[in-house]
Amino acid sequence: MPITNHQSEQILRIARELKDIPGALIPILHGIQDELGYVPPDAIPLIANVLNLTRAEVYGVVTFYHDFRSEAPGRHIVRICQAESCQATGSEALTAHAKKHLGIEFHQTTLDSNFTLEPVYCLGNCAGSPSVMIDQDVFGRVTPARLEVILKEAQVEAPKETNDESEGAKR
Ligand code: FES
Repeated sequence: MPITNHQSEQILRIARELKDIPGALIPILHGIQDELGYVPPDAIPLIANVLNLTRAEVYGVVTFYHDFRSEAPGRHIVRICQAESCQATGSEALTAHAKKHLGIEFHQTTLDSNFTLEPVYCLGNCAGSPSVMIDQDVFGRVTPARLEVILKEAQVEAPKETNDESEGAKR
């Protein structure tokens, strides 16, 4: 999907703000992903122009780092830790279960746009391995069954966050 004028302005603002710092491309890409949720393919020529790079150079960096998404993410981002401590406590089986349950692989989004699944390498919660992060919340000692419960809760919570006006009508 093409980007909107507003998104184009956001991308240009971020690129211009950061263009003079050393190694500006990576911080610019992170800035865009933080603000838009992903790095749209249409951002590549805009960034290339600001940094005086070729499109191929920018594209190469975007595709080299798995951290950068080129498609809009789902409403919730589910990160399953793949680092050592979590590996030792079952994150591999947990990951396999998550993929099967959601019907997607890493870096993909469910058809209903609810969840994007991503690997992460240590959430600083090794004592609670295996760890999972959903949006900004970290969960420890996550079993496959608990993961399903957490995902269900996240799905239910979504309308509350996006529809503040309905709060008063809920009683
Ligand atoms: S290794 Fe998974 S939280 Fe540290």
